Amino acid sequence: MLKKLWNFLSRSRGKKDTVDDIESVMQAVDRERLPKHIAIIMDGNGRWAQRRGMPRTYGHKAGVESLREIVRACNELKIPVLTVYAFSTENWKRPREEVDALMDLLVEYVYKEIDELDRNKVQVRAIGRIHKLPEKCQQAVAFARERTKDNDGLILNLALNYGGRSELVDAVRSILQMTADKKISIKDIDEQLISSHLYTAGLPDPDLLIRPSGDFRISNFLLWQLAYTEFWYTDVMWPDFRKEDLLRAIYDYQNRERRFGGLKQK
Ligand code: IPE
Ligand code: IPE
Ligand code: MG
Repeated sequence: MLKKLWNFLSRSRGKKDTVDDIESVMQAVDRERLPKHIAIIMDGNGRWAQRRGMPRTYGHKAGVESLREIVRACNELKIPVLTVYAFSTENWKRPREEVDALMDLLVEYVYKEIDELDRNKVQVRAIGRIHKLPEKCQQAVAFARERTKDNDGLILNLALNYGGRSELVDAVRSILQMTADKKISIKDIDEQLISSHLYTAGLPDPDLLIRPSGDFRISNFLLWQLAYTEFWYTDVMWPDFRKEDLLRAIYDYQNRERRFGGLKQK
């Protein structure tokens, strides 16, 4: 089975893989060593559209299709947590029409997908300064959270108006408030306490970070949580990103040696 997996993954991308091929690779993945948390920077929508002579928003729409497929695949593989970067605190700098289109897409995604997500036991959450999003987005997020809160499948964390730095600012503020209220003292501040004040409190740190579209940077994503995360990059643009790319990333991850500052396991 492993040989089959390797043969499949080493083939150049873009070959017409039959659905059956991909399905058998899904079955061959080593389920014992799956990442517990995958984080994805869903990048490259704009370039993908522009290369086709289309407006950037066309790329964002196409990106939703990739998200749908990857959520399904992660759920099928029983990955516990998937965090997707959908809108950063810096993305407000974009033209108004693009920001509006992204907000509309979020609302559309939630209401269109919620039945399937719920049926598949996905638990939808959101991280970021959600209260600063337009009202209709806040409502969509609250609706999805409430509807899926008891589900025990994949935790789908939508990073919306998310910034790693603003997350740390919010954590510092809330910790300082606790010291001011005399609920904790300064000596109680340790790594665990800081983690527990982040938006991702209670979730494991990502094991695998995927960034499509050929850029090699974090872009203010999960600054604290990515300390020992394995990075995986691809030139494939997010709207073209498919299950087979996810499988490549996972396979690669499973063949790495994580040392966490220690030494190779004997
Ligand atoms: C990612 O695609 C989506 C968001 C940032 C919301 P981009 O819009 O950044 O696409 P590129 O990187 O410009 O191609
Ligand atoms: C990161 O992509 C944010 C999201 C994918 C939501 P950007 O396109 O905003 O990042 P930069 O500007 O290339 O660093
Ligand atoms: Mg980008």
